[in-house]
Amino acid sequence: MASTTRTLLAFFVFLLLHGGIHGITFTVKNNCGFTIWPATLSSAAAPPLQETGFILIPGASAALPAPAKWSGRIWARTHCSTDSSGRFSCLSGDCGTGTVNCSGSGGAPPASLAEFTLDGADGKDFYDTSLVDGFNLPVAILPDAAGCNATSCAVDVDRGCPPGLRETSAAAGGAVIGCMSPCVAFREDEYCCSGRYNDPKICKPTNYSMVFKRACPQAYSYPYDDATSTFTCVGANYVISFCP
Ligand SMILES: *[C@@H]1O[C@H](CO)[C@@H](O)[C@H](O)[C@H]1NC(C)=O
Ligand SMILES: *[C@@H]1O[C@H](CO)[C@@H](O)[C@H](O)[C@H]1NC(C)=O
Ligand SMILES: *[C@@H]1O[C@H](CO)[C@@H](O)[C@H](O)[C@H]1NC(C)=O
Repeated sequence: MASTTRTLLAFFVFLLLHGGIHGITFTVKNNCGFTIWPATLSSAAAPPLQETGFILIPGASAALPAPAKWSGRIWARTHCSTDSSGRFSCLSGDCGTGTVNCSGSGGAPPASLAEFTLDGADGKDFYDTSLVDGFNLPVAILPDAAGCNATSCAVDVDRGCPPGLRETSAAAGGAVIGCMSPCVAFREDEYCCSGRYNDPKICKPTNYSMVFKRACPQAYSYPYDDATSTFTCVGANYVISFCP
């Protein structure tokens, strides 16, 4: 009897952890050789996840449950520290709250994004990696369900970053710590797909967006890059791996 109860309990814990009506689990993993501070931002319609900012030392990972219909983004901050007055800040991906928690604030570009819309059209999860806000770290999304594809921007885009897009930091010894998107760097409608370019038929890849696309063919390189950058899956939990 006790063992039947345990089996049932194990079954319900399994259901809880593996989606169904109770949502899914994101596992955020740090494969970088340095400490990162991942952050999560829910879209307006979705509740915040249990953690909106946390530390991961090299090799560490953290499990984050998400409700069935969650949508939002996950990125990682680098070169973070706390100053003498107790204010926390990061040279890359900072969310400006002064604490490790982002609490509803997004990250300053450039930052590579892992984006999700769970249980969207036809009950599918939609996910992508995006460089529309620029690049700061390689990132991969790995679904654990059979038949679903991983997507990633697995290379260090900083290395091939065009001169006008390089984000350097004096505090990091002048190192390139990110690669800005042309939209962020130049604020032109052609790059941002805004103004008269706010139309997928008019806003096309540019010589700048193609630098990102060549480096990371699966990632969004400009706002209307959906055809090659959006992935779908049903019934998975997801690993979000930085420096995969
Ligand atoms: C950050 O969020 C965690 C989890 O919600 C909470 O336990 C912690 O107290 C928060 N820390 C700060 C500094 O707000
Ligand atoms: C996964 O990728 C393969 C090869 O590109 C494709 O044929 C297949 O339809 C993809 N699967 C899903 C679920 O998108
Ligand atoms: C893109 O084209 C513009 C205009 O011709 C040029 O100034 C810029 O250097 C080019 N950038 C890259 C990355 O090729």
